[in-house]
Amino acid sequence: MNGEKQERLTRVGPGTAMGELLRRYWFPVAASIELTAGTTRAVRLLTEDLVLFRQPDGRLGLVQRNCSHRNASLQCGLVDDEGISCPYHGWKFDSRGNCLRMPAEADNPKLLERARIRAYRAEELGGLIFAYLGPEPAPLLPRYDLFVWDNVLRDIGMATIPCNWLQIMENSVDPTHVEWLHGHHLTGVRDANRQSTPGWYKRHHTEIGFDVFDYGIVKRRVLEGGSREDEDWQTGHPLIFPVMLRVGTRGQHRFQIRVPVDDTTTRHYWYSCYKPVDGIDAPVQREVPVYEVPWQDEQENFIVDYVDGGDIMVWVSQGAITDRTKELLVSSDQGITLLRRLLLEQVDRVQAGEDPMGVIRDEADNQCITFAQEFNKFSGGDAFLREAIELSHVRYSPLKEQIIKLLGQG
Ligand code: FES
Ligand SMILES: [Fe+2]
Repeated sequence: MNGEKQERLTRVGPGTAMGELLRRYWFPVAASIELTAGTTRAVRLLTEDLVLFRQPDGRLGLVQRNCSHRNASLQCGLVDDEGISCPYHGWKFDSRGNCLRMPAEADNPKLLERARIRAYRAEELGGLIFAYLGPEPAPLLPRYDLFVWDNVLRDIGMATIPCNWLQIMENSVDPTHVEWLHGHHLTGVRDANRQSTPGWYKRHHTEIGFDVFDYGIVKRRVLEGGSREDEDWQTGHPLIFPVMLRVGTRGQHRFQIRVPVDDTTTRHYWYSCYKPVDGIDAPVQREVPVYEVPWQDEQENFIVDYVDGGDIMVWVSQGAITDRTKELLVSSDQGITLLRRLLLEQVDRVQAGEDPMGVIRDEADNQCITFAQEFNKFSGGDAFLREAIELSHVRYSPLKEQIIKLLGQG
């Protein structure tokens, strides 16, 4: 790949090819629980510094971070039912960016008009707050199944990862890394710590396959000893374009959401739904809890004795923006080639004035968007389910014991 194509694929600022494509989608910028009524939160998305706030009446606002007067940050602004007031001289802005008041100035509508700030849409769904930075009319916030399911237990893991979003997404269409990174490498690491490791991940891939569908790419695999009859091939699981992966097995259903904060920082969310075994009701949750997924210890060494820690280690180790002019793609990288092609095709669509794939504008299409995902991953049944909890980021969840019980594994 040449440098120009790499720039086109990776950069997310305003006016860049990928930045303009990504601005056609909604991204989570906070968990609902992180923004109580009357408070603010600094947010950075697609290189733009913003402040998110929740008015006492519950309404959300998302505006540029720096005040139009003399650039003080609105992050420490006071919030009321009209909007947010800058801490420096009290200029007040509503959630549409209109300047309502300049306390030290006489009324002057023209001046107020000049003081208007950038404002964006923010909406809440399933315990997350989403933002849309693109042109109007905005598409609908997609009601993907996990965000709207009933009778499930939810939690949200989070980590800030110092690398470009695309190398994380490329990992989602790279099935064979599983047998080495999460199989042989993880086993080697854990052996050295005298920790046991189940053998699921080590199984060799005898076939991999990819199909583009309306919302992204379905990823399939056949593992040694298995066949195309297995769910890993029949159903597989999807990359949901452009920044999500759907993973899990019976009882555990998850979106991994990779939010491009800027060119070299990605906010990673593990948004999980745990579905109870038959006959049990999930406890009612007033709010969805969040937790930090650690990937470095106090000495800043990578934590690599669990599956997601291994993934994060390789993403970061590839470099802030991995140099694709120096890579050697082989046949097992076919998913990565496909994803890059798809991204560039969607860039062309946006430049031609069309909506890219997955953008939803019709309410009737947006009641609950369901994705297929294997229920018996690696044909591993309950044993895999139990071990996947111990070997994944779920080991850090504040709900871990509750999850194990809910899934009938206690
Ligand atoms: S800098 Fe915001 S009111 Fe002066
Ligand atoms: Fe992985």
